Amino acid sequence: MIFSKIQKPALAALACLLAVAQAVPTTRVEPRSLSFDYNNYKVRGVNLGGWLVLEPWITPSLFERGGDTAVDEYTLTQCLGKDAAHSLLSQHWNSFITAGDFQQISAAGMNHVRIPVGYWAVSPQPGDPYVSGQLDILDQAIDWARAANLKVIVDLHGAPGSQNGFDNSGRRGTINWDKDRSHVNATLDVLSSLIKRYAPHSDVVTAVEALNEPMTVMGDSGVDLNNLKQFYYDTWGRVREVNQDTVLTLHDGFQDIDSWNGFMGQNSGVWNVMMDTHHYEVFDNGLLADNIDQHVQAACTFGKNKVGPTDKWTIVGEWTGAMTDCAKYLNGRGVGARWDGSYGQGSSTHGSCSGYAHGEVTALPGSVRSDIRRFIEAQLDAYESRSGWVYWTWTTEGAPEWDMKRQLAANVFPNPVTARQYPGQCN
Ligand SMILES: *[C@@H]1O[C@H](CO)[C@@H](O)[C@H](O)[C@H]1NC(C)=O
Repeated sequence: MIFSKIQKPALAALACLLAVAQAVPTTRVEPRSLSFDYNNYKVRGVNLGGWLVLEPWITPSLFERGGDTAVDEYTLTQCLGKDAAHSLLSQHWNSFITAGDFQQISAAGMNHVRIPVGYWAVSPQPGDPYVSGQLDILDQAIDWARAANLKVIVDLHGAPGSQNGFDNSGRRGTINWDKDRSHVNATLDVLSSLIKRYAPHSDVVTAVEALNEPMTVMGDSGVDLNNLKQFYYDTWGRVREVNQDTVLTLHDGFQDIDSWNGFMGQNSGVWNVMMDTHHYEVFDNGLLADNIDQHVQAACTFGKNKVGPTDKWTIVGEWTGAMTDCAKYLNGRGVGARWDGSYGQGSSTHGSCSGYAHGEVTALPGSVRSDIRRFIEAQLDAYESRSGWVYWTWTTEGAPEWDMKRQLAANVFPNPVTARQYPGQCN
């Protein structure tokens, strides 16, 4: 594959190579038909977050089993040791989400799930404390998805060295992913394995996401955008070595989503590429100060001005009904919330986190529940302006602003997802 052979110094010459490739039509392999028609149907889905990749705020109790130093899956498994970690995590994998959840997701009118998985599920690095076994569960999940008529986006959420330094990459702290080329190579090999494993199941696994949230907006301490683009071309080559139709999904790296227009576009000789952008309004003091009307407006504007004009299929692959950052451990274990001023220096106070940090959706005040529903409906409308949406996240131990399973049951998330109490908010 031409794209997997292009090294970084050659990136500037890529346009020329692509022009050559286009001039030779026989090099173009036409895609076979996909089992989901991304041109004519909207992606409506939910992330199965905190399942095969752990996050402190989704399952606080698991992390509390590991002691205070367990701040991510790496340190949790390190604190527990292999045997105890494997026992605790297996129990979690086998109970947190089951076949019945896939049936509920389908019954609410959704057609996709996005399933985060870490590199360590495929090939742990020497010395890693992580435990494995997640792929057996993922295999099972694909059967459950098939039975529920759901499509699966397999999403590589954690890469060696960490692509964003977030706890949800497996390891919180420094971003070393592209600082060492062997990490990038290992990531490509992990993707090859995943694609080979799931290509025979392309009736269900329609898409593989190369890398979740690579942090390209932090200068020298983050990921280099050119390294990321080269990795995306290399990944495309790896996918097409195995399978002509699987959609390659690419996160925007926190660049404006419309800045990717032209990249791997319709005339570049690649096909079946989908962009993924994430939208949150809770990790910034300015946005936290918004009232409900301003939150709705911000979502509508994002959908109209940024997502709508993209030149490739584009999903909003993570977003939430949350309007506070209060969920326990949301900003990291041992870190407070901006909302109530406990985040630390420079945080202003917007209100109390009582009821938001941990609790039932039905225990939220009625006005909060209706505001969350308004905000959710606006986002559903906004993101269906392009290819659709995938909510974050299906379930939690008790983060009421984030827990779709409980929100559907409490009529805070529209059920079915096409129902509207507040129609036309983005018109
Ligand atoms: C990464 O892979 C490339 C291409 O196969 C190879 O040339 C390079 O030596 C590898 N780098 C490392 C550090 O393994």
